[in-house]
Amino acid sequence: MDVHEKYLKFPGEVPVKWKILGRLLDSRGTFVSGEELGDLLQISRPAIWKQIQILMREGIPIEAAHRKGYRVPESLDLLRPDQIQSSLVTSFLGRPILYTRETGSTNDDAKLLAGESSPDELPEGTVLIADTQSRGKGRLGRSWQSPPGGIFMSIILRPRVSPSRVPALSIVVGFAVASAIKDVLGLFAEVKWPNDVLIGGRKVAGVLCEMRAELDVTSVVVAGIGVNANFDLEVLPPLLRDKTTSLSWELGRPVDRNSLVASVLNTLEPLYMEFLGGGLSRLLPRVEKVLAYAGMPVRIQNTSPGSPEVSEGILEGIDPDGRLILGLPDGSRRYFSAGDLSLRPV
Ligand code: BTN
Repeated sequence: MDVHEKYLKFPGEVPVKWKILGRLLDSRGTFVSGEELGDLLQISRPAIWKQIQILMREGIPIEAAHRKGYRVPESLDLLRPDQIQSSLVTSFLGRPILYTRETGSTNDDAKLLAGESSPDELPEGTVLIADTQSRGKGRLGRSWQSPPGGIFMSIILRPRVSPSRVPALSIVVGFAVASAIKDVLGLFAEVKWPNDVLIGGRKVAGVLCEMRAELDVTSVVVAGIGVNANFDLEVLPPLLRDKTTSLSWELGRPVDRNSLVASVLNTLEPLYMEFLGGGLSRLLPRVEKVLAYAGMPVRIQNTSPGSPEVSEGILEGIDPDGRLILGLPDGSRRYFSAGDLSLRPV
């Protein structure tokens, strides 16, 4: 399906079936009568039933009961872009939000849209968000597990900065995610260089910034964010389970993904403006407070093609270009722009 057709735009003209679904989601677990839905949307009851059947064919578990109406299960957890937007205090992030229930990768869709749209058609701050992805992408060509219940979003940014500053931007995005998790849920989340978010040493979110650049100026950055929000770790491949966690796993209850998405955008906007004004330097003291493994013995694996070199030392911090500072045993320092970081095994 064409990317333009796949996504619903908020604010914008929302199809009737989505309005019906929205009303059912407002009272999950409880029946809403066909009459009420008809009155709300000013259409006949047979027309409501037709829309319900479309939703059912699309896989939405709607129960229809004679004389009672329709209901969705209490446990049905779908993103609500309208609710996200009503919690925004931003001036451009999340304005608009493009939403789809399922796609391959929101980053791929965002890059495609950015390639064929002018800044007027696709303004800075546009967010693409999906309830699930079939080909989620992680860093270094890895795949990103994207089961329902997670958060999969890509933000279109148009920073007029040199491409060399984009890695530092992805640290800012990771910091915004960690801060939002703390603010909304009270969970202490750390930023693991270059762009992971950890809780209790296990990965809960990741950031993948991809860019288009022309003549040394970045034209578009697609900042992709994946958060393991509401799913059990059993849905992940066994190899990932030890290193991964989810917010619902940590809290023992599902979280409100809409509030979290709004908080990520509300937190990121002022940080992004600070970054555009003065780079990472002014933000570093705050980032370093939640920097995973700071002051600890670490190992960093160079991920540049053809040089699988491993370095060990003490993680001293991040420099204003977003590079990792490694203190070596001989007292010198080494700076890394990319790599795979882990705690040094004892
Ligand atoms: C990583 O930690 O390796 C980065 C993961 C980034 C995942 C997000 S989910 C939304 C967006 N779409 C993708 O395909 N990837 C990013």
